Amino acid sequence: MSRKRIAVLLSGRGSNLAALLRNELGGDIVLVGSNKADAKGLDIAREAGIETFSLSHKSFASREAFDAALVEQLNQARVDLVVLAGFMRILTPVFTNAFAGRLINIHPSLLPSYPGLDTHERALADGVKLAGCTVHFVTSELDSGPIIAQAAVNVDDQDTPDSLAAKVLVQEHQIFPFAVKLFCEDRLQIEGKRVFTRPATAHV
Ligand code: GRF
Repeated sequence: MSRKRIAVLLSGRGSNLAALLRNELGGDIVLVGSNKADAKGLDIAREAGIETFSLSHKSFASREAFDAALVEQLNQARVDLVVLAGFMRILTPVFTNAFAGRLINIHPSLLPSYPGLDTHERALADGVKLAGCTVHFVTSELDSGPIIAQAAVNVDDQDTPDSLAAKVLVQEHQIFPFAVKLFCEDRLQIEGKRVFTRPATAHV
């Protein structure tokens, strides 16, 4: 089994990229891209010696044109897996179809609860006692593809959106590398909305 070539797309600080880089994934992050040229995550990639690119959505006439250019960049790098790590763009089917079954996102809620933005504020306002994060395959429907892994945290009386985000982020950094590794080891099988994890093959 050859090692997977992984691209990471991000728009911000890149703590999840850093977590991926700290772990053995069974694959190699060969490219990191952003829609924001000043994303801190790009600096993390450069420091790790990884090729980077930025592509401003503002230079494209439509979402589809931007997505097509993104697909082109990633295809040139012959990537097997695209990982969205805080990539703040809604993707069209031009992108999600091009990487169907090999496109993974991390979302800071226990999906299907709280898709979209401001998840921690909304969870606190609803008074939930458990919050968390989800790694899932991406489909054209926002934050709703087959779930690979989740982790939960307790919501305490003193929690604020910021403190809850910080607690959830610790868990994100655990489950994201775990899920990417399962993908790289060809252990994930999608059946409808469910993702089954095959046992590890024994190495002799
Ligand atoms: C994370 O909370 C992730 O769940 C969400 O965007 C944030 C990215 O954080 N999709 P970072 O840039 O990885 O630090």
